[in-house]
Amino acid sequence: MAPDQFHDLFKAWQKRLRRGSHRVRPPSHAPAAFVTAHAACPSSPPAICSPGRRVGAPSAAGRRIAPRTVLPAGVHWDRHGSAAQRACEPAVRRLAGSQRAVARKAPEVEEAVPPASATVVIRAGSATYPFTLASGQLGRIGTWREAVGNARTVAVITSRPVAALFPGALRAIAETGARRVVLEIPDGEDAKTLQVVGRCYQALAQARFTRSDLVVALGGGTVTDLAGFIASTWKRGARLVHAPTTLLALVDAAVGGKTGINLPSGKNLAGTFYQPERVLADDTVLTSLPVRELRSGLAEVIKCGFIADPAILDLLPDPARAQAQRYLRLIELSVRAKAQLLADDVTDRGLRRHLNYGHTAGQAIETASGFTLRHGEAVALGMVYAARLCELLTGVRGVTADTQDALHRVGLPTRLQAAVSFEQMWDLMQQDKKVSPGRPSFVLSPRRGTATLACMPQREIARAAFDDVLRPERR
Ligand SMILES: NC(=O)c1ccc[n+]([C@@H]2O[C@H](COP(=O)([O-])OP(=O)(O)OC[C@H]3O[C@@H](n4cnc5c(N)ncnc54)[C@H](O)[C@@H]3O)[C@@H](O)[C@H]2O)c1
Repeated sequence: MAPDQFHDLFKAWQKRLRRGSHRVRPPSHAPAAFVTAHAACPSSPPAICSPGRRVGAPSAAGRRIAPRTVLPAGVHWDRHGSAAQRACEPAVRRLAGSQRAVARKAPEVEEAVPPASATVVIRAGSATYPFTLASGQLGRIGTWREAVGNARTVAVITSRPVAALFPGALRAIAETGARRVVLEIPDGEDAKTLQVVGRCYQALAQARFTRSDLVVALGGGTVTDLAGFIASTWKRGARLVHAPTTLLALVDAAVGGKTGINLPSGKNLAGTFYQPERVLADDTVLTSLPVRELRSGLAEVIKCGFIADPAILDLLPDPARAQAQRYLRLIELSVRAKAQLLADDVTDRGLRRHLNYGHTAGQAIETASGFTLRHGEAVALGMVYAARLCELLTGVRGVTADTQDALHRVGLPTRLQAAVSFEQMWDLMQQDKKVSPGRPSFVLSPRRGTATLACMPQREIARAAFDDVLRPERR
């Protein structure tokens, strides 16, 4: 389909979605008790049954969930409205409550926020898909009906804390009428392992998951990386929709089709390129995000400002305050910047490599810190390092100060605190898959909004840059 045709179709679809979005009804086959409960409490969370439970055995309320299926521990199959699930709800509510307690307190409200929406059409090689940014859309059944299409089973890959934060999204998926399977994975970087991949394959096999069924990634970048990997390899490619819930995933991990699994010898060493069918971006997910995670996402936003669109750097928010309009704009600009760079380079061989700005050193620092640093914090340090290298290699001045200033404005680190030595960082940088010896592969940004590739610097220059800007200050 031609891009313009796609765009028109997509606009028409959006109109229909907007018209239908308020008609949120339980499915016609839902039990009467559920219909009543839904009407009384439309925001009640979905049920999640206990791990390893024999599905098909009588539930607490004496009903069967589904015949002859045992799901592995940590993987839950539920149908919204079943008596067994309703029996589990108080526990899930408690979990949701405790998660909310650890989440960021609602910051001071600065702006009255009307519901907003924007669409960026992502063209990645032969694939074209929409990144729809719409406030509150993850809880709308209309959104999910469109996304699910004719899939008979939807496998939602998510972590327990994220599931507890977004009961409305899980419920809306169940209300589409498709069978919903929740694959609960460990939270954070622990999810991106081959063991977890194996457990998910096992669950998909038990659910008789086909290629025309749908994988939904609900969570941050670790979830979209893992879910993308699973979707791309399951029967050589199942359908995939991303529903990112962190700023970092919204502006980066959910867009562009890179998937990744960590191996003992390094981060993201196994992976594929696999584009989702759509990205459902909902900025209201940011309201529960801890400030540290917001800052981590802002590192990728700042990166886009340095390599592609300097306007981004004039819009940087104060992460301790609610600036919803500003985040909406920043998400849109960052995704547009990324979309431009990957349009003609899906597999990281040309312009797309500019998106690795700050990542060669950053990922080495992240790994050497034992993942005590958030991904964005490590990328922030990687950008300071790249800025100083740029000054040493090209003679341009002021790049480091400009970078440090942008990072300070949002409270990101600009100097190492964790015990990471130059030797550790250097060794890990040599193993980085982005680095090709003797070929330009290290990204520099000599001026806001521009990027260029340089060869890996010689060890002495690399060390000088480390000592100048990263080495922890002696107390
Ligand atoms: N594929 C790509 O192109 C790409 C790009 C950048 C980063 N990444 C990957 O992304 C990962 C980092 O992603 P991340 O920073 O989103 O981390 P993450 O997925 O670990 O999420 C961070 C934490 O935030 C919590 N969380 C998620 N949504 C929340 C919400 N709305 N409110 C409150 N808490 C919430 C999670 O439970 C988790 O504890 C790394 O593994 C990195 O390699 C991939």
